[in-house]
Amino acid sequence: MEIRVTDDGSRTLMAPRYGESYHSQRGALTEARHVFLEGSGVARRLAEGLPTTVLEVGFGAGLNALVTLAAPRRAPLAYVALERDLLPAEALYALDYRSLLPDPAPADALLAWLAGVSAAAPARHVNELAGAHLELVLGDARDAVLPTGVHAVYHDAFSPDVNPELWDEAFLATLFAALAPGGRLASYTVKGAVRRRLEAVGFEVRKVPGPPGGKREVLVAQRPELR
Ligand SMILES: C[S@@+](CC[C@H](N)C(=O)[O-])C[C@H]1O[C@@H](n2cnc3c(N)ncnc32)[C@H](O)[C@@H]1O
Repeated sequence: MEIRVTDDGSRTLMAPRYGESYHSQRGALTEARHVFLEGSGVARRLAEGLPTTVLEVGFGAGLNALVTLAAPRRAPLAYVALERDLLPAEALYALDYRSLLPDPAPADALLAWLAGVSAAAPARHVNELAGAHLELVLGDARDAVLPTGVHAVYHDAFSPDVNPELWDEAFLATLFAALAPGGRLASYTVKGAVRRRLEAVGFEVRKVPGPPGGKREVLVAQRPELR
């Protein structure tokens, strides 16, 4: 697979089937941190000592998972990721995650585990990794039994134009149902049609500033608090 060095020096892969990259070419690591870890509120929750469950749509190259596993944490973390097409371990090693963060241990642990995970779907792979609970659910995300009461959804499918099944109202409604009241869905797209569908299934939607050097705006959608 073709590897691209992105603007912040971190690497990403091109997905030939979709004609898109797994992360922003303006900065893969910066996007993972800004849009998903911080935009979802997960960084703040973990730093404040709040137990946190994340549901990721599109595990892909595992970068969002890695930055979340490596984030400063004063509370338990559970991370459930959905993926239909697990990448081969060689592709992940080529991204050089070891050199990305000051401590290579979470990258080593994640990649060693993934190298032993069978890509055969459907399957649910569970591990305790870097002190967190990690689940990788293989198969079409629309068929997965989703957890409930999650605090954050990282919606990181490919774009709505090329990966429409994960952006339709029916699937967005299942993500709404998975979230606890007050929980947030983070996404890199602010496309009007997606915002309208999110609102139609009950989310409160905001555009927020995008990552340094990247998109001007990204999206945070919140399941309303109970009144
Ligand atoms: C943009 S990439 C995700 C990047 C990833 N979050 C990361 O940090 O490296 C989108 C992912 O969604 C997956 N995907 C696309 N359609 C899917 C579906 N229907 N069910 C499950 N996964 C799907 C793709 O295989 C791809 O790995």
